[in-house]
Amino acid sequence: MQSIVSVRGLGVRFGALQAVNDVSFDAQRGKITAVIGPNGAGKSSLFNLISGAIVPSAGQVLFEGQDVTGASPDKMLRAGLARSFQITNLFFELSVRENLRLAAQFLEKGRGWLQPVATSVHALARVDELIVQFSLQSKADELAGYLSHGEQRRLEIAVSLAARPRLLLLDEPTQGMSHADTQETEILIRSLAVEHGLSILLVEHDVDLVMNLSDHVVVMHQGQKLAEGAPAEVRGNAIVQAAYFGKKQ
Ligand SMILES: Nc1ncnc2c1ncn2[C@@H]1O[C@H](COP(=O)(O)OP(=O)(O)O)[C@@H](O)[C@H]1O
Ligand SMILES: [Mg+2]
Repeated sequence: MQSIVSVRGLGVRFGALQAVNDVSFDAQRGKITAVIGPNGAGKSSLFNLISGAIVPSAGQVLFEGQDVTGASPDKMLRAGLARSFQITNLFFELSVRENLRLAAQFLEKGRGWLQPVATSVHALARVDELIVQFSLQSKADELAGYLSHGEQRRLEIAVSLAARPRLLLLDEPTQGMSHADTQETEILIRSLAVEHGLSILLVEHDVDLVMNLSDHVVVMHQGQKLAEGAPAEVRGNAIVQAAYFGKKQ
């Protein structure tokens, strides 16, 4: 089976700091792949390298077999890779529906003279579909800024999916969420992969969430890949336990 993403010897340096150092792994199509590791391990930097937000100083990113190393986030989104940020990227002063509409229109923009003046029927249909899929019916006309934290994170995932990507990158999607919202998000992420066939690459430091949710786990530590494998395999790995779970070998 072809990987949706292959990362080969990827690295980035910030001054003297090698934030990501020679990292290689594959994420499989239709599966949930998680990158875990303590704060500062280089997870968000790795994610930014894959999504095009920062340019690697070494290595390659292949998306569906194509070399996309250093391509911009816009280009990546057009290619089929969307990302949701650790820091929110919603327009708080716009309604839920307007946030989704802007995102759904993304792929229709930049087509030069073909660009429609009004939002296309196609984009509006996508907005309605997302509102139902993400249970945002009662909030559709509310300003995004007035939603609860959990609802905002849910809307953010919906926004990322508006352009119908094949791979979704999520950076700590449950950060700051209540227990109930975390459980809901877990169900949502699983359904995106299982029912909708979306490939998901998840960056997370909540180990329990990752172990429940993922098909494959990559462990980062101090910029490097420490281990990878099935959740149980990784959890049982003595090196991972020593470095990450803080247990003595
Ligand atoms: N743009 C940047 N400039 C300088 N240092 C950075 C930058 N982004 C991240 N870092 C540093 O790189 C290291 C890894 O950070 P990050 O990738 O955010 O880790 P994680 O997401 O695993 O917590 C940290 O020491 C962080 O301070
Ligand atoms: Mg991070």
